[in-house]
Amino acid sequence: MPTFNRSQLFQIAQLVLNGAGVPVEESAIVAEELAEANIVGHDSHGVMRLVQYVQMMHEGFVKPGSPIDVVTDAPAFAILDGHFNFGQVIAAKALAMGMEKARQSGTATIMVRNCNHVGRLGSYTHKAAREGFVTLMAVNAPGPGGVAPFGGIDRRLGTNPISMGAPLGEEAIVLDMTTSATAEGKLRVSHQKGETIPEGLIIDGHGNPSANPGDYYSKPYGAILPLGGALMGHKGFGLAVMVDVLCGMLSGSGVCRDDLPRGANGVWLYVVDISRFIDRSEFDCLVSKYAESIKSARKLPGVNEILLPGEIEVRRGKERAASGVTIPDETWRQIQDTAQKLGVALDGI
Ligand SMILES: NC(=O)c1ccc[n+]([C@@H]2O[C@H](COP(=O)([O-])OP(=O)(O)OC[C@H]3O[C@@H](n4cnc5c(N)ncnc54)[C@H](O)[C@@H]3O)[C@@H](O)[C@H]2O)c1
Repeated sequence: MPTFNRSQLFQIAQLVLNGAGVPVEESAIVAEELAEANIVGHDSHGVMRLVQYVQMMHEGFVKPGSPIDVVTDAPAFAILDGHFNFGQVIAAKALAMGMEKARQSGTATIMVRNCNHVGRLGSYTHKAAREGFVTLMAVNAPGPGGVAPFGGIDRRLGTNPISMGAPLGEEAIVLDMTTSATAEGKLRVSHQKGETIPEGLIIDGHGNPSANPGDYYSKPYGAILPLGGALMGHKGFGLAVMVDVLCGMLSGSGVCRDDLPRGANGVWLYVVDISRFIDRSEFDCLVSKYAESIKSARKLPGVNEILLPGEIEVRRGKERAASGVTIPDETWRQIQDTAQKLGVALDGI
């Protein structure tokens, strides 16, 4: 299995995307997000996505170079239409606009329609935290879903992730999670590696618990369970429903519904300028004492350290910046195959 450093992952992604016809300034943004996802340990949102993205371009679903229109512009909110450009490109613009409006108005809400896969939400909330904002970001996916409602068997919801970020000294607290028991990309990684998965994440097409990710990808199609699984899934299910309402209905993007065609992501971004609510140094003091208090709890056997949301990504990021990222053979084969079809040589990387 090949191992690549951050700059090599970026190069692989940018070469493939440029080969597929993506303008350089857009491919740089997407490649940066993919490489970053690999580095912080979320391979499901890393260069593995290149194959899917190129396929989506060929299907006319991702439209690089498309304008990002401001449909509604108000002092503290806006609606953007991404016209099916890359989600990473649109989300970067939405975040910049959200931070600018929050600086002026204290808070800002940005809704985005027709936005393709934005990748790892925590990347955006982390960036905003570093700029002095507390941010909430959530994403839905219109059209047929992959997640069963609480008590159901059939797919009716998306994985509807939510991320929230806040500054913590030089770093950040970053919650970034699906409202389903697992991200679909993580199933795909296990499937490609030929691995089984823990029970409680998916059911097969008949509603039985399954440890075989293949049950999700082959007929009769299984479903991902809502976060909390068979016992506590009503909570993840409830969050997912509200993400569809906020991100899908208010943005005009559409909701997850079996009878609707596959659409692009609907995005809800809520940005708060800390300094408009509380003195920044006071906030920093409060959050650091709070973090210390949490981390000082007695630990269960086998636990070395209590980690805050987002801390594991920072740790993995440091490890992988040193060791590089190993890409599974099957994933690398698929990326090379895609590159070859585009006439892109990846040999020299
Ligand atoms: N763009 C999309 O449409 C889309 C859809 C689904 C998921 N995603 C992305 O998929 C990624 C994976 O989501 P996930 O739910 O599988 O993430 P996850 O389960 O790996 O992590 C969820 C949260 O728990 C924290 N965490 C993990 N281990 C911890 C520990 N031991 N102690 C304390 N906190 C811990 C993480 O920092 C993170 O904030 C996310 O980046 C999400 O944004 C994107």
